Amino acid sequence: MAPRTKILLTGATGYIGGSILNRFLARPDFQSSFDIRVLVRSPEKAPKFDALGFKSIVGSHTDEEVMIQAVSEVDIVVGVTDCDSIPAAELTIKGLKKHFEETGKQAFFIQTSGAGVYLQLTDKMSETDVIYDDANPDQIETLAPTQPHRNVDLKILDAEKEGFFKSCIVLPTLVYGVATGPLFDSGLSNSHSLLIPLISRAALERRRAGMIGQGKNVCPIVEIHEVADFYIILIEKCIKSPDAVPHGREGIYNLENGNCTYYDLAEAIGKALVALGRGDNSTPLTFTPEEEKKYFGAYAPLFGADCRCIATRARSFGWDPKMTTADLLGGVQKEIEILIKTGKA
Ligand SMILES: NC(=O)c1ccc[n+]([C@@H]2O[C@H](COP(=O)([O-])OP(=O)(O)OC[C@H]3O[C@@H](n4cnc5c(N)ncnc54)[C@H](OP(=O)(O)O)[C@@H]3O)[C@@H](O)[C@H]2O)c1
Repeated sequence: MAPRTKILLTGATGYIGGSILNRFLARPDFQSSFDIRVLVRSPEKAPKFDALGFKSIVGSHTDEEVMIQAVSEVDIVVGVTDCDSIPAAELTIKGLKKHFEETGKQAFFIQTSGAGVYLQLTDKMSETDVIYDDANPDQIETLAPTQPHRNVDLKILDAEKEGFFKSCIVLPTLVYGVATGPLFDSGLSNSHSLLIPLISRAALERRRAGMIGQGKNVCPIVEIHEVADFYIILIEKCIKSPDAVPHGREGIYNLENGNCTYYDLAEAIGKALVALGRGDNSTPLTFTPEEEKKYFGAYAPLFGADCRCIATRARSFGWDPKMTTADLLGGVQKEIEILIKTGKA
């Protein structure tokens, strides 16, 4: 029998991390083919992951000893905590080096970054706007190191050049949808994304949906269960044909299936508010500068920016997302209802 693949996943209690783990739980070969360790900060949640068949490690991604040791013991690290954490990336790299020194083998580091790297801080699309293609590393390398998340990505890409591990950097775009599955039903993992709940909460408080400026800016989108599908495809490829996995500068994987303007999103939220009796006018109204600060803080400029990219490389792996912008907009009311019902609004 082939040895079980050892995987360390950080961010198990999160929206994306929990969704990936749910995919493993659903597999008949989960226990026979995989040895999945999960880094969890909560000592209360850790035994619950053990009971499901994972091996929990209690700690933070900034705990030096814990991280280096945990990373050094596995074949694949899936990082899904904080794409802006330099310490998490550095400790993972140290662990990967230890793994190489001890085994002579290059482990894979699948890092979750974000399509924020592509943000164009303008207030509307123009003809000169660039659409970043993950199959075009030369184009990706034109990104300024000051772009969001890029400092961490560059740290990983620089270290990878030394040859002791292989990096795959996954860039989800706006991930939407309420995550479902045992980890979410039991409350172990967070079932909501960041952006739609954030904008919806602001709308509920002011009883009117809103956007930054005119909301003409565009954001690529991807549905949460289809995000998890891609991670599984990538992990399987790392196991079955490791030499064929594009990595390093070639190993950038955008995840999108279509685009949405912030105005369209705000309009869907506005209609949901009226339908739920939480607003009287469904037409979105621009957030004032005070509201931007109050509801979004440092994130406000990001919500007013264009973000354009396409997922050529991810699709070349056979990833075939089906959920579209209509699904995102059509699901907004349901998500707001759940946020209200569960006291998260
Ligand atoms: N959701 C999106 O639309 C989207 C799009 C693009 C990129 N991303 C990126 O993907 C990553 C995960 O996003 P998400 O939506 O899954 O977020 P999330 O639901 O908030 O999950 C974050 C996870 O990271 C864990 N974590 C945070 N700090 C940690 C630390 N110091 N040590 C150990 N674990 C820690 C959290 O654990 P606790 O439960 O202990 O807090 C949680 O499990 C983030 O970097 C995010 O920026 C997300």
